[in-house]
Amino acid sequence: MLILGIESSCDETAASVVRDGRDVLSNVIASQHELHEKFGGVVPEIASRAHIERILPVIDESLEAAGVQLADVDAIAVGNRPGLIGSLLVGVSAAKALAWSLGKPLVAVDHVEAHLYAAALDEQPIEYPALGLVVSGGHTSLYHLQGPTQMQRLGSTIDDAVGEAFDKVAAILELGFPGGPILDKIARGGNDKAVRFPRTLLEPDSLAFSFSGVKTSVLYHVRGQPIGRGRNATFARDASSLSDQEKADVAASFQAAAVDVLIEKVRRAMQRVETRSLVIGGGVSANSRLRAEVQRFGEEHDLPVCLPKMKYCIDNAAMIAGLATHLLAAGQTADLNLEAAATSSR
Ligand code: KG4
Ligand code: ZN
Repeated sequence: MLILGIESSCDETAASVVRDGRDVLSNVIASQHELHEKFGGVVPEIASRAHIERILPVIDESLEAAGVQLADVDAIAVGNRPGLIGSLLVGVSAAKALAWSLGKPLVAVDHVEAHLYAAALDEQPIEYPALGLVVSGGHTSLYHLQGPTQMQRLGSTIDDAVGEAFDKVAAILELGFPGGPILDKIARGGNDKAVRFPRTLLEPDSLAFSFSGVKTSVLYHVRGQPIGRGRNATFARDASSLSDQEKADVAASFQAAAVDVLIEKVRRAMQRVETRSLVIGGGVSANSRLRAEVQRFGEEHDLPVCLPKMKYCIDNAAMIAGLATHLLAAGQTADLNLEAAATSSR
């Protein structure tokens, strides 16, 4: 079974050919970071225009790299939610056109579910039931997984996603864009005990997350208490008053606080539901501290930990094509009325 997957939910235009659900034959990702850098964040209109320019060359490249022709492909899969609507529409339109013109099935994939499948790519199948943790720029949620497409949400963030908090803290430290990976890198040279940032755990039995408190705490630590309120607030200083070592210390201390919270919520969830493995997915699963800490947690609790390979942590189309194999096998195909949606069905 050969599936061509397409992903365009945010600022990565991606296409991939996956055989039998886990064997990735190609994984092409055209990132747009350089287009959004000067704005300090993804500009939706610029992203969708860039997707239009890149989508066909990216699909061509993915077929060529996999050594297959469109005619060899059994189905076309596309991430149709959640994401930026204008960006999603580009992938969805391309996928519909291909499926229609080739007379092949179209499979719609939820991007959040796909992140929870990424750890199976080029690896052994995930053992279910599993506990799933999605940590991305838009989502931070825990799920009880019965299979690749069957899951119940146990809890999610009530404010910022953890990736968003990484990006905002990186912006406060004036580290550049995209913030998360740069912060991870400089944190390696920092002291994670330099500043004790708060670990927001909410109620003792809560499986929800909150990251806006720690972000604000970093803001006040770096810039001082605000003078005035709301949008008119000003600060006595900014990140330029910190040495590189102090910035690294703040980065390491923030990262420790964020990862501690994620691990604590996994620990709580494990006590609630039956689980044979722990599955992590989403951009922040590339974080070096999180990877090390979840591995340690898994060893302590004798729980296999399924982490995606680094290239499958960030947005990619291999996870879309891989998961689509299971949806197709279950007869879950879409028709040409398929719509893009800003929110996840999960
Ligand atoms: O999954 P993803 O590529 O896109 C969404 O679905 O949101 O996740 C992007 C997020 C961004 O917030 C980015 O800063 C974060 O993942 N990220 C990281 C790292 N690599 C990516 N955060 C912390 N450490 C990293 N190494
Ligand atoms: Zn994502």
